[in-house]
Amino acid sequence: MRTFLAIIFIISATVKAGECLVCIECKNSTNPDCAGNEVTCGTCMTTVAEIDPKNGSSKSLSVEKTCNLNPEICNITYSISGSKSRVRYTVKCCNTDLCNKEAPEVSPWNVTSTGLQCPACYEPNAETCVANTPVQCTGDENRCLVFSGKFPQSGKCETIAFQGCASELVCNNFGYLYPDNALCPRGSLNCTTQTSSSYVS
Ligand SMILES: *[C@@H]1O[C@H](CO)[C@@H](O)[C@H](O)[C@H]1NC(C)=O
Ligand SMILES: *[C@@H]1O[C@H](CO)[C@@H](O)[C@H](O)[C@H]1NC(C)=O
Ligand SMILES: *[C@@H]1O[C@H](CO)[C@@H](O)[C@H](O)[C@H]1NC(C)=O
Ligand SMILES: *[C@@H]1O[C@H](CO)[C@@H](O)[C@H](O)[C@H]1NC(C)=O
Ligand SMILES: *[C@@H]1O[C@H](CO)[C@@H](O)[C@H](O)[C@H]1NC(C)=O
Repeated sequence: MRTFLAIIFIISATVKAGECLVCIECKNSTNPDCAGNEVTCGTCMTTVAEIDPKNGSSKSLSVEKTCNLNPEICNITYSISGSKSRVRYTVKCCNTDLCNKEAPEVSPWNVTSTGLQCPACYEPNAETCVANTPVQCTGDENRCLVFSGKFPQSGKCETIAFQGCASELVCNNFGYLYPDNALCPRGSLNCTTQTSSSYVS
C-alpha cells in the first residue's frame, strides 16, 4: 500500500495538473524554426533574443522554446542596451499542440533614441564595472540598470557586471524573466527611475 501511494505521488508530482499540451523544447538555438524535443506543458512559449553588436555587423539570434511558467511574461518585448551591444527579447505564448514549432512573428525593432542616456559598462567575470561611457536608450528603454552576478547567456551561466539601458519591464519582472535556479542563481539588479538624461561625466 505504501509503495502504491508512493508511486501515485511520484506520478502526480511529475505530471502537474493542467499540463496537457505538447510543446517544442529547444535551448540555445540560432534557428527560430528549431524543432528540438517534444515536452508536455500547460502553455507553450518561444523567446527570440536578437543581438545587435552595434558595429555594423548583422544581428544574431538566440532562440529558446520551452514551457511557459508565468503568464506575466507572455506576449511581451523588452530590450537592454549596453555600450557595445544591445539585445531585444520577444516572448510569445500559445495554447495548442506544437504551436511553438514555427518561428514566431517578430515586430520591427524600434531603435529610435528616447533621449535618456545611462552610464554603461560591461565586464565578464567581475562584480563591478566602471561606467565611463554613456549609452543612448532606444525604443521603450526608460530605465538605467545596474546588474551584478550570474546571468544566462548563449546557453551558459556567466558572471557579469553590466550597466546600461533597459525597458521598465525588465526592472519590474526580473524575477519572472530570469527565474532563480540552482544552475544559475539569479544576480542582483537595481534600476533607477529617472526618465531624463541621467549620465553625469
Ligand atoms: C562586430 O562585433 C561582433 C561581436 O563582437 C564581431 O563578431 C564582428 O566581427 C564585429 N564586426 C565588425 C565589423 O567589427
Ligand atoms: C498570447 O498571445 C496568443 C496569440 O495571440 C494568445 O493565444 C495567448 O492567449 C496570449 N497569452 C497571454 C497569456 O496573454
Ligand atoms: C519608438 O521609440 C521612440 C522613442 O521612445 C518613440 O517616441 C516612438 O513612438 C516609438 N515608435 C514606435 C512605432 O513604437
Ligand atoms: C542593489 O542595491 C542593493 C541595496 O542597496 C545592494 O545591496 C546591491 O549590491 C545593489 N546591486 C547592484 C548590482 O548594484
Ligand atoms: C550556445 O550557442 C552558442 C552559439 O551558437 C555556443 O557558442 C555555445 O557554446 C552554446 N552553449 C551551449 C551550452 O550549448
